[in-house]
Amino acid sequence: MISSAEGIKYRHAPPKAVAMIEALRGLGYSAATALADIIDNSIAAEAKNVWLNFVWSGEKSRVEILDDGCGMSAVMLDRAMRLGELNPLEERKESDLGRFGLGLKTASFSQCRRLTVASIGHEGLQCLRWDLDVLSRSDDDGWYLLEGPDPGSVSYLSSLLDAGRGTLVLWEVLDRIVTTSFGEPEFLDLIDRIERHLSMVFHRYLEGGRPRLKLFINGRRLKPWDPFMSGHPGKPWHSPQIRAPGHDRVEVECHVLPHKDRLTAKEFDEAQGPEGWTAQQGFYVYRNERLLLAGSWLGLGQGRSWTKDEAHRLARIRIDLPNSADADWKIDIRKSTARPPVALRAWLIRLAEDTRARARKAFAHRGRPPATREGGSVLQTWRADHSEGGMRYRLDTDHPAIRAVLDQAGPLLSEVRAMLRVIEETVPVQRIWIDTAENRDTPKTGFSGEATSEIISVLDVMYRNMVIHKGMSCELAKDRLLRTEPFHEYPELIAALPELN
Ligand SMILES: Nc1ncnc2c1ncn2[C@@H]1O[C@H](COP(=O)(O)OP(=O)(O)OP(=O)(O)O)[C@@H](O)[C@H]1O
Ligand SMILES: [Mg+2]
Repeated sequence: MISSAEGIKYRHAPPKAVAMIEALRGLGYSAATALADIIDNSIAAEAKNVWLNFVWSGEKSRVEILDDGCGMSAVMLDRAMRLGELNPLEERKESDLGRFGLGLKTASFSQCRRLTVASIGHEGLQCLRWDLDVLSRSDDDGWYLLEGPDPGSVSYLSSLLDAGRGTLVLWEVLDRIVTTSFGEPEFLDLIDRIERHLSMVFHRYLEGGRPRLKLFINGRRLKPWDPFMSGHPGKPWHSPQIRAPGHDRVEVECHVLPHKDRLTAKEFDEAQGPEGWTAQQGFYVYRNERLLLAGSWLGLGQGRSWTKDEAHRLARIRIDLPNSADADWKIDIRKSTARPPVALRAWLIRLAEDTRARARKAFAHRGRPPATREGGSVLQTWRADHSEGGMRYRLDTDHPAIRAVLDQAGPLLSEVRAMLRVIEETVPVQRIWIDTAENRDTPKTGFSGEATSEIISVLDVMYRNMVIHKGMSCELAKDRLLRTEPFHEYPELIAALPELN
């Protein structure tokens, strides 16, 4: 009650049930995003398995979502079915995927006219339902929450009763799915689309030998779809995980995917994702490891916002948010949009710019290592070794600068080897990456910006070693240097090396 002492005149203005619910149906869910919202609730209820069952029967088709979570008591189910029962400003458990207290209802109404929720928690079976057709027949616009399932649908609760625990969400009268000339083939296509979407949205829950969640569609278990091709040896680059400045629990990881030439046809096809290579570039925003947004440049850019184009299709950037960042990132009810806070935009633009440049390069150079001006292959100093345990950078001991020292090290050989190992084990990967992201500029390598005399002095040592110690002809030594990193960038200096006798 508003206190009368405040002197405020008022009247009660509750919404009309049917009008309100009909309006909420237009929030813009697809069948797949609506189902993801229902699965969020199962995950929050600590379900380990969620079974989706799509039953085609023309206008009587239905969708069942059964989980083995903690279930609900009578009071909990009553609250769960009401709209506007939970305040979005309330603090949530860290693992909760909800926020608005609406998803179960809004997601369901976006697809169906009859929503039945049955649940078995510690108080045994509870069941309530909303039926828009029943509501629209009432003449007083009341919020009539119905008890139990529709009399014709009692048998659909059997899977929950058999399980003895968990929650069943039942969608019937699927007027937004089964529209005019929508038949069984379209239903099957829809199931395929839903499968691709859910494999992506929940991939981090579905991954691993002992996944946190198993999802089934009509009995078939869903495989996770990892947008970042983690562990693929053809990936040219990915960053370490870095924390957003001033936002402790916001983390970012940038990825450049392998060029098509480094993938099999099957891998290429699978890696593109539900919407295809170009559409799937950009940021992937996760909230509590659940994907909200799959591939978007978030309206960021230099001057104008970046658009999705072919050249940047290998760039994918992961952003991890906790649910406490919802207001900052303007998470919407559908859990499908997010907007970075102003304070982080410049930082994100820098990271994205760096990743986009690398992706552009990988796309243009087909992910190949550096080449001579004629396109020949170049011996690199560093190689990336991939193994089950991860990736490490190793020096290539065939590089002439290293080989020469090893060959002549004599009694110092073990010390020299130890020194190289120490260098390999302390490559400042994170440091380089963060400096790159912060300064916009990649740290200088390959003698770029160094005085020519400096390059010549190193080149000269290598050249003399090849001719004098290795007995190569001057011509052969120069040819080798032309194919050796970083000297392949300086063919003019190599050509000017003196003839040695
Ligand atoms: N499968 C389920 N198992 C147990 N409890 C559930 C389940 N589904 C919903 N609930 C309960 O119902 C409540 C309302 O769910 P609903 O999806 O409408 O809102 P929310 O998850 O709190 O927030 P959001 O609108 O962001 O999804 C949940 O907070 C939860 O307590
Ligand atoms: Mg929810």
